[in-house]
Amino acid sequence: MKRVKGVAVLGSTGSVGRNALDVIARFPKRFRVTALCAGKNAAELTEQARRFRPPFVCLSEEVTVSRLGRLPPGTRVLIGEEGMSEAACAGETDIVLAAAAGVTSIRPVIAAARKGKRIALANKELLVMAGKFLVEAARAGGGGILPVDSEHSAVFQAIEGHRKEDIARIILTASGGPFRARTSRQMRDATVEEALGHPTWRMGAKISVDSATLMNKGFEVIEAMWLFGLPPSRIDVLIHPQSIVHSMVEYQDGSLIAQLGVPDMRIPIGYALSYPERLPLELPRLLPHRMDGWVFEPPDGKRFPALSLAYDAAKTGGTAPATLNAANEVAVGAFLAGRIRFTDIVRVVEKSRAAWRKAKRSVTLKDVLRADAEARAETSRTISRMRRPRKP
Ligand SMILES: NC(=O)c1ccc[n+]([C@@H]2O[C@H](COP(=O)([O-])OP(=O)(O)OC[C@H]3O[C@@H](n4cnc5c(N)ncnc54)[C@H](OP(=O)(O)O)[C@@H]3O)[C@@H](O)[C@H]2O)c1
Repeated sequence: MKRVKGVAVLGSTGSVGRNALDVIARFPKRFRVTALCAGKNAAELTEQARRFRPPFVCLSEEVTVSRLGRLPPGTRVLIGEEGMSEAACAGETDIVLAAAAGVTSIRPVIAAARKGKRIALANKELLVMAGKFLVEAARAGGGGILPVDSEHSAVFQAIEGHRKEDIARIILTASGGPFRARTSRQMRDATVEEALGHPTWRMGAKISVDSATLMNKGFEVIEAMWLFGLPPSRIDVLIHPQSIVHSMVEYQDGSLIAQLGVPDMRIPIGYALSYPERLPLELPRLLPHRMDGWVFEPPDGKRFPALSLAYDAAKTGGTAPATLNAANEVAVGAFLAGRIRFTDIVRVVEKSRAAWRKAKRSVTLKDVLRADAEARAETSRTISRMRRPRKP
């Protein structure tokens, strides 16, 4: 009989986390939750803990722990980065679903990878910031990194059984986000609500804004570099607003192999948890005879400069991607707080380029964490000097 796999869900109260719990709840004979980790949402974490009864729950800060309700007997409450590490590395855990926002889970995820846990990776920022270290840890531990991002899951499926030498390039598809058809002038005055209105996916706030600037796609290029071991020059992006073709791989002989599916995160999450098997997910299916009107077009680098910024950081290497990621996170936070305009996000991030010059070729994880902290401080200073946008 198959052993039930223990899953630690980092970011359980978020969009990916909730979808993952939905998948896990459908297959109690295959999976059980060993840990639920969130930032501050103690109320939802309490509800989830009552339903899934994991041995561990974890919140990011001590002050929020007092807001937890009554937990099932025997539940251990952990706190912060150390707590997350303990939960992710626990003997009961086989798979760590990395879906906590930001980069605070970097050390716990690296520690779990080194211990041989399978990393089901949603949190692309971890690879952008410290891809080298996460990939090395997963190689040493042997548990592997399974992509949860739908594009990378598609590529992962399209390269299975093929030789890496035969790959000509990877084509990541992008919906184009809510502002695909807007002019730069119209984007300047975009509201937070508009930026959060993704046309095909329901996601957390930060990734929704990243999708609107196309920084998300830039991060995905860097993510693909680390996952599939290809240089940025062999990773292209195509806008495909229908979000049905999740990505493609072109081979030397001109063949294109793509993966298609309805835009539902439970499919790539389920695959990352159950690989190499596929779960009988009872979700709406694609109907090939209804598939028409698909569009594929190159991204407009003028209106969406974030993409080339990410390519440049990828080529620079060293600490440059970590600096880019940190500056972007601060800028997106400022936009969500009404502190800067939508088009200011990339303008502000562009300023972090100055720090790339310091990007060394050979870096340690410490260098990366230092670059992350410096970029956050510098970007906050830049924003504090900017004039607040007037309310429309
Ligand atoms: N949403 C998608 O469809 C999708 C697709 C592909 C990749 N991703 C990636 O997956 C990650 C999560 O995205 P999301 O859309 O699920 O985000 P989200 O809805 O904003 O959820 C973020 C989760 O992280 C938790 N969190 C925040 N700060 C934390 C901390 N310091 N320690 C531990 N947990 C913390 C949040 O807890 P609280 O609720 O307590 O704040 C929440 O559970 C991102 O890296 C994103 O790029 C998402």
